[in-house]
Amino acid sequence: MTRSAAGSILFELAAEADALEIARMSRDLIETGLGWSWTATRVLRSIRDPETLVLVAREGKSIIGFAIMDFGEEAAHLALLAVDPSHRRRGIGRDVFDWLKESALTAGIAVIKLELRAGNVEAQHFYRRLGFEEVGWTVGYYRRRETALRMALRLREPATGSPHSTH
Ligand SMILES: CC(C)(COP(=O)(O)OP(=O)(O)OC[C@H]1O[C@@H](n2cnc3c(N)ncnc32)[C@H](O)[C@@H]1OP(=O)(O)O)[C@@H](O)C(=O)NCCC(=O)NCCS
Repeated sequence: MTRSAAGSILFELAAEADALEIARMSRDLIETGLGWSWTATRVLRSIRDPETLVLVAREGKSIIGFAIMDFGEEAAHLALLAVDPSHRRRGIGRDVFDWLKESALTAGIAVIKLELRAGNVEAQHFYRRLGFEEVGWTVGYYRRRETALRMALRLREPATGSPHSTH
């Protein structure tokens, strides 16, 4: 658990009781117009999965930001990250990501990968600012309707002989 510089925001691992609120935030802030694939059941599975980190930023009792990242051997996949609209541009997204990145460095991860909706220009700016680079496009990635932009942040060179590639 950590606190923001001002002390009012708490960053910690999500509890099982947070699953529904995280799922709602995913539906309303990330999956808009695509249906609802990150249901409470799926989020709960992630919270219980030892290979997945689910983080929340709380102000009082409210969740104002969250992220879900899966850890593999050499690559981690950032599945979701969102901040409540009334709390944006205060560095909360960056703070949530910094925690994930520290965890990835500790776990010896070589690259963090993600996909985002091609039209999501704000998030593209955000991830570029965090050091991510564009690695390609996947047409029809979202419900066979929308193109995804794939981005990656390299943390170290992959182990020699590893079959891993950046995408
Ligand atoms: C993308 C998102 C997570 C950013 O969260 P945030 O807490 O507002 O981001 P931060 O305040 O930490 O921003 C860090 C830097 O990223 C960049 N950035 C963030 N939002 C940006 C925007 N809308 N436009 C341009 N640059 C932006 C800026 O460089 C910013 O630094 P600055 O404020 O000092 O200029 C947030 O806008 C969000 O939840 N969007 C909807 C969900 C989403 O698209 N998630 C990503 C796909 S899963």
